[in-house]
Amino acid sequence: MTRGKFITFEGCDGCGKSTQLKMWSEYLTRSEIPHIFTREPGGGKISEAIREILLNGKNAEMTDECEALLYAAARAQHLRDRVEPALSEGKLVVCDRYVDSSFAYQAYARGLGVDFIGKINAFALENYLPDATVFIDLTPEEAFARKHGADENDRLEQAGIAFHKKVYEGYKTLAEQFPDRIVVVSGKATPEEVFANTFNALKARGCL
Ligand code: TYD
Repeated sequence: MTRGKFITFEGCDGCGKSTQLKMWSEYLTRSEIPHIFTREPGGGKISEAIREILLNGKNAEMTDECEALLYAAARAQHLRDRVEPALSEGKLVVCDRYVDSSFAYQAYARGLGVDFIGKINAFALENYLPDATVFIDLTPEEAFARKHGADENDRLEQAGIAFHKKVYEGYKTLAEQFPDRIVVVSGKATPEEVFANTFNALKARGCL
């Protein structure tokens, strides 16, 4: 049995990732391509329980280090209980976020540094990387403008925007460092164009 391909999607909040994943789900089902959709943090029983801890607003006192370790712990479990079994059954695995999120959010935006995030994830994942990662390139300013209009009452304060700008810069740095793995697709085009550009890039890399 030929091993399946592992594709991950990344981008800033509001970049249009959810719309694209929905289009991929429809396409893969329509084309009868054996696949699974999954997400991080989460994807399985234990990783979803860790997700609940991570995204629960009541846990605001969580340290950045604890947060980073929990993302890595959820990933270690998810990789072994969902991703790896599907790949060995020859299925295409499409995952909403993966280790690049930890680099963009925890290493760059939280400032924990790439050494620490690299180390804990190397331990959790044994350096297991996707065949291709699609980065939907849309700046936080563009994402917020699209979502809320250029509204003075935007619910995100300046601190929020500064954080998301660092996330974005982190992704840009990762895309420059790993051009063979990370496909950069502009998020400014229509959803259909973004899908077509992603499709062509993944096809060219032998992932479809
Ligand atoms: P989610 O509601 O799934 O957001 P999105 O639709 O933007 O993917 O929440 C996931 C959040 O977790 C998102 O803000 C990014 C963050 N995250 C990290 O900070 N580090 C990580 O390693 C991962 C996987 C996610």
